[in-house]
Amino acid sequence: MQSNLKSVLDTKKAAVEGALGIYSSCSGDGPAEIHEAMGYSLFSNGKRIRPILALLTSEAVGGSEEETLPAACAMEMIHTASLILDDLPCMDNASYRRGIETCHRKFGESTAILASMALLNKAYRVLAEWDASGKKGERLKLQVLKEIPELVGPAGIIGGQIADLASEGKALDFEALEYIHSRKTGSLFIGSIRIGAIIGGASEQELRAATNFAKNLGLAFQIQDDILDETGDLQSMGKEGKMDKRRSNFVSFCGVDKASEIVRELTGHAVLSLQIFGDRARWLKEAAYYLAVRDH
Ligand code: IPE
Ligand code: IPE
Ligand code: MG
Ligand code: MG
Ligand code: MG
Repeated sequence: MQSNLKSVLDTKKAAVEGALGIYSSCSGDGPAEIHEAMGYSLFSNGKRIRPILALLTSEAVGGSEEETLPAACAMEMIHTASLILDDLPCMDNASYRRGIETCHRKFGESTAILASMALLNKAYRVLAEWDASGKKGERLKLQVLKEIPELVGPAGIIGGQIADLASEGKALDFEALEYIHSRKTGSLFIGSIRIGAIIGGASEQELRAATNFAKNLGLAFQIQDDILDETGDLQSMGKEGKMDKRRSNFVSFCGVDKASEIVRELTGHAVLSLQIFGDRARWLKEAAYYLAVRDH
């Protein structure tokens, strides 16, 4: 990764982790075990790419890090909640996540399920309690509070996961795979980038451009994840390889080389959508190119 981009991503990651510490705290609120399980998964070594994209998008349209951080942290909580469920024996049956044992292996299945629900609940609470000062802010907050549940629900992550699980043992075509990937993973990219744009004060045209960027980037991200599932391992990724092979994915559909070509193409389309932002989208553009060649 280019050293300038690395320092931008590291700085944003540190800001996200600092804010997560503040927004996830719920001192004196219920049994210690649930907080331990939530913190175990939330503060493990994730890339924090969704909240980082929210911050970079907000800044590209003139917003500030400070006003975007609460909603960005909520997106990371929702993402972590989805990973805990995805790893369960009834779904991907994974043993490792982010370099450590999965939540259910460490705390048991019932605590893991409850930790996932508690993180999702916490995310909505952070959004509800977020001080979006002024009349305009309140309107934006309502828009965010309406969009996020739609992206998480049956038409979003949950729908994508259901279709993914149902694909076991079936050979899916491109359209069916695109349906799954754009929902199970694309939804949170769309959500994170759109809330960054909305909070930053994007115009209608800018919001449309940011959404197109997010759609292509989210799809490319999941295809790269399929490639890494085939080529990577526990040491390089912090999660086991060859976990997604039992279901149809882009590598089983067209092989690693063709899948990599599709990632490059989608990334090219994503970056084209950023043209209207000019140099303000420099880091978003560089981040997109980096994500297309990431190795974990
Ligand atoms: C993993 O997401 C799940 C997918 C949607 C592919 P990330 O690759 O962003 O995982 P973390 O958050 O860095 O652990
Ligand atoms: C996970 O997709 C998508 C969600 C968590 C909703 P994967 O199953 O491919 O993610 P990894 O490979 O376990 O990170
Ligand atoms: Mg899965
Ligand atoms: Mg999985
Ligand atoms: Mg995967």
